[in-house]
Amino acid sequence: MTQPLIAPSLLAADFANLQRDLELINQSSADYLHFDVMDGEFVPNISFGFPILDAVRRHCQKPLDVHLMITQPDRYLEAFAKGGASVIHVHYEACIHLHRTLSHIRELGCQAGVALNPHTPVAGLEDVLEQIDVILIMSVNPGFGGQSFIPHTIQKVTKLKQLLLANQSSALIEIDGGVGLNNAHQLVNAGADILVAGSSVFGADDPLEAIRQLKNSRQP
Ligand code: DX5
Ligand code: ZN
Repeated sequence: MTQPLIAPSLLAADFANLQRDLELINQSSADYLHFDVMDGEFVPNISFGFPILDAVRRHCQKPLDVHLMITQPDRYLEAFAKGGASVIHVHYEACIHLHRTLSHIRELGCQAGVALNPHTPVAGLEDVLEQIDVILIMSVNPGFGGQSFIPHTIQKVTKLKQLLLANQSSALIEIDGGVGLNNAHQLVNAGADILVAGSSVFGADDPLEAIRQLKNSRQP
């Protein structure tokens, strides 16, 4: 079994010291930088958009994993692709024509991701698996960093892994929300490939060490 990929979430960084925190991520063993976009409509919070993306792109050497918590994401796919996204996640609940949206993301040269809210069953993805590169399982209700992990997520990851195997899908499983050293090994053992970590990285005394430990979190 390989190590999980780690995607620290910018939402937990210190925005008054953005360059410092981005340098820290550059020096770390992180595999992505997770970039949370919130519109105040799909989720009850507003985070950041294109000016911050532009600044981040200029300083961050890690691929950008963009999580769009917005309604009608199709309106902005091109702008996020041009803005430097490597992966673009749209929410299943926000897409009426999910197949079209995912195909569009790939046409733009990005990896196509689908995020599922905690109440959304994984079975809804079965008929669109060929269009998906990454599935982002929300382990909190999206909108805020620092929330408690929903334990049922472990079963959901197991179920999704079975669905992917049954359909010979190579899509990766990514987990977002309340992820830390206390639950990372269970998630990885259940089949998670990518761990998003906000508070558990930027809130740690030693963020570099926190990232290193998350990468080695397969053992209980
Ligand atoms: C929540 C965001 C998460 C958040 C995770 O809506 O999608 O990416 O930043 O933060 P933590 O790891 O603190 O739960
Ligand atoms: Zn996120």
